[in-house]
Amino acid sequence: MKILFACFILFSSAFCTDGKIVFEKYCWGCHHQTSLAFGPSFKEIANHRTNGEIIAHINKPENSYKNLGYKRTVMPAFELTSDEYEAISTYILSFKSNKKD
Ligand code: HEC
Repeated sequence: MKILFACFILFSSAFCTDGKIVFEKYCWGCHHQTSLAFGPSFKEIANHRTNGEIIAHINKPENSYKNLGYKRTVMPAFELTSDEYEAISTYILSFKSNKKD
């Protein structure tokens, strides 16, 4: 409860922005955590990409898809707050595993 209250006061602090909530709000229709959906799983992304690559793709897939090796992109761009970008990227990277999937 105390933490929730602190988050309310600090409102936009990255510490309080929950990547899982960002995921459920914007990404869940096309990405799942560990299994392939319309887009690649977060586990797969985490195993191959850096924080910067992940944020760049969410922000402007049309600028980044070639760098990531795609021939085309169908993912919509998302205008998130910088806290939300950091939170969702941290959430994605939390699925990183040592073995390839
Ligand atoms: C309409 C479906 C759709 C939605 C919604 C969507 N994505 Fe994607 N995403 C894709 C597809 C398909 C790809 C494969 C490349 C492309 O089309 O850009 C992709 C690719 C990506 C990649 C790069 C994959 C790689 O190879 O490293 C990241 C990172 C990513 N998505 C994150 C997100 C996040 C975070 C959200 C929510 C904020 C989101 N996506 C929402 C469909 C979607």
